[in-house]
Amino acid sequence: MSERKKVTLPMLFKKMADGEPITMLTCYDYPTAYFQEQAGIDMVLVGDSLGMTMLGYESTLPVTMDDMIRHAQAVRRGTPNAWLIGDMPYMSYQPSVETAIRNAGRFMAEAACDAIKLEGGAEMADRVAGIVASGIPTMGHLGLTPQSASALGGFRVQGRGALQAKKIIDDAKALEEAGAFAILLEMVPDRVCQIITERAEDCIIISLGSGPHAHGQLLIYHDMFGLYPRFKPRMAKVYADAGQVILNGLKQYVEEVTNHTFPQPENWFTMKDEEYEELVELLDKE
Ligand code: KIV
Repeated sequence: MSERKKVTLPMLFKKMADGEPITMLTCYDYPTAYFQEQAGIDMVLVGDSLGMTMLGYESTLPVTMDDMIRHAQAVRRGTPNAWLIGDMPYMSYQPSVETAIRNAGRFMAEAACDAIKLEGGAEMADRVAGIVASGIPTMGHLGLTPQSASALGGFRVQGRGALQAKKIIDDAKALEEAGAFAILLEMVPDRVCQIITERAEDCIIISLGSGPHAHGQLLIYHDMFGLYPRFKPRMAKVYADAGQVILNGLKQYVEEVTNHTFPQPENWFTMKDEEYEELVELLDKE
């Protein structure tokens, strides 16, 4: 295990103040969390994107709080030191402030998360304020917000027009004023992200496909390693094609079992001759 210190909010704000970029990735399971811990990722998001990447749904909407808690617990076991953020799934915060606080509390109490994230702008500011007032650090999410993909016209860049960009900038201010410690900007133009980052006083801005000016960067883990077969977003950089490596291994396994080259002696267990002979005698006596 790595010896690094537990990431805290003051450490993240210090990085922001020092102009040192913050690293953030999604993560949904124990082994991946273990590797992210070793790599020293600052912030780990258990995203409701797990509905698509891990559970095979067409969207994030069917994901439940119980799904999220189970995955967040596994991730926490793999990365004890990252700043762990639980993503509030669809309808876990939209109905009311009280619903939002109760579900945010589950991430903290049941999965030892450090913070939660929810989607939406000024219309969600009261949820953010309520959760923050309960002592739970809260991250906002603006731009392409997948839970509202239908209303937004699909998975597309948000804020290309001046009026829409102005709304995203106003929403970011509303979230910061409500107490959000951070805001994720997903798929907004780089210059809109730059304005929001320059105007943020006490709020860490993270970019997903929104350019280099934010305080930190986020990628979806499955996009980084070619592990999501349905599509590859343009903004994602593939650092290694692990999906192809896995597929090659699986094909080789099928071939080796079929042609009797797997297993080899190092892949099975044996018993001593005398035990085997005694066994044969026992069976003969039956
Ligand atoms: O669920 C998720 O992984 C997210 C990303 C799109 C950042 O919210």
